[in-house]
Amino acid sequence: MALDRKTPNDLNAFWMPFTANRQFKKAPRMFVGAKDMHYTTAEGRQVLDGTAGLWCCNAGHCRPKISEAIAKQAVELDYAPAFQMGHPAAFELANRIIDIAPEGMEHVFFTNSGSESVETALKLAIAYHRARGEGARTRLIGRERGYHGVNFGGISVGGIVTNRKMFGSLLNGVDHLPHTHLPGQNAFSKGQPEHGATLADELERIVALHGAETIAAVIVEPMAGSTGVLLPPKGYLEKLRAITQKHGILLIFDEVITGYGRLGAPFAAQHYGVTPDLMTTAKGLTNGVIPMGAVLTSAEVHDAFMQGPEHMIELFHGYTYSGNPVAAAAGLATLETYKEEGLFERAAELAPYWQEALHSLKGTRHVIDIRNEGLIGAVELEPIAGEPTKRAFSAFLKAYEKGILIRTTGDIIAMSPPLIIEKTHIDTLIGTLKDVLETLD
Ligand SMILES: Cc1ncc(COP(=O)(O)O)c(C=O)c1O
Repeated sequence: MALDRKTPNDLNAFWMPFTANRQFKKAPRMFVGAKDMHYTTAEGRQVLDGTAGLWCCNAGHCRPKISEAIAKQAVELDYAPAFQMGHPAAFELANRIIDIAPEGMEHVFFTNSGSESVETALKLAIAYHRARGEGARTRLIGRERGYHGVNFGGISVGGIVTNRKMFGSLLNGVDHLPHTHLPGQNAFSKGQPEHGATLADELERIVALHGAETIAAVIVEPMAGSTGVLLPPKGYLEKLRAITQKHGILLIFDEVITGYGRLGAPFAAQHYGVTPDLMTTAKGLTNGVIPMGAVLTSAEVHDAFMQGPEHMIELFHGYTYSGNPVAAAAGLATLETYKEEGLFERAAELAPYWQEALHSLKGTRHVIDIRNEGLIGAVELEPIAGEPTKRAFSAFLKAYEKGILIRTTGDIIAMSPPLIIEKTHIDTLIGTLKDVLETLD
């Protein structure tokens, strides 16, 4: 459709990401403001944020400390070249991230998004082995139903069919572990499910098939968010760690959703007590306010590159905006906010209340499974026969009308509220969702 240049706010030009564009443009849903737990719509309605934006506004919306830090940095030093030059905020932020990271993580490489963090980690893994003289280790192992952003590396190791099938042959030399969703055995589990740790043994089969000496890394979300909140079965991550270690394969945790407090610890690695070799993060790092990502690595990975003549660049990788001053200022203010307000601890304290509230939806119309961990949860709906995703999308639209923001993926409703959420908000969120589901076709 041609652009209507006469209409001041024609919706036609903006091709919206991961959106049913035609549906949206017929009945737009516009946010024009936000504060703490709520969005304000263009019609002036308040909508309770059940998703922390896109799993990213962990401290809630328009937090003055973060906004002020951004404004201050923008007038002090707006930009500094990211290559061969530095500025203090990026170094400071890297240190503050390492302060809260699991022991063993010692270095930070800045990116601008979760997708870029993933590409960076995958490249680092392959280059690490090459730097150590194991250049044949180029294979990457992901997992079915995994989400690692939308760039070519990420969709290659990812396992969400719709995100892959339109885009050609993807990266060579990638294999996938099976996903860990066992509804027959684990439905309505509270927290980590009992069954499925042995699915990690599939890695041994993959290693036997390709040879360990050809495998660079395994990448998984410690808790898979975007596919609809799939938790690691008890013992699963420990097994993955043991098998990767045994074969000299790097383990990458994609913590783009789980990082910065979502599960009640700074990172899922600490929550589950399993430390990988690299971690990808973004989203909550800047409270979603400014794009920024960070890849955390062990000293071993970093140090493998620190060789050769000192005037030489050690890693031919980076972005114009790696460690951007304004983003770094936002990151620092965000981490301070988390700390000052004890938001990670708050998430851990609220988790049992959240769990019981979510599981009170058992028996509600259409609900076939409920899963939760920390301040994240999913309610899976029976799909309409022959029309997958339609029921959950209708629930999303109805929920929005009734004043709550939820997110859907397939026929799964996912929720991940800001960590500042109060119990009364949880009651509203779950109560409204129950009403929505009971009156849904
Ligand atoms: C685990 C994981 N990795 C990567 C990404 C991609 O992040 P971005 O959308 O910032 O590129 C996401 C986004 O939801 C994610 O959940």
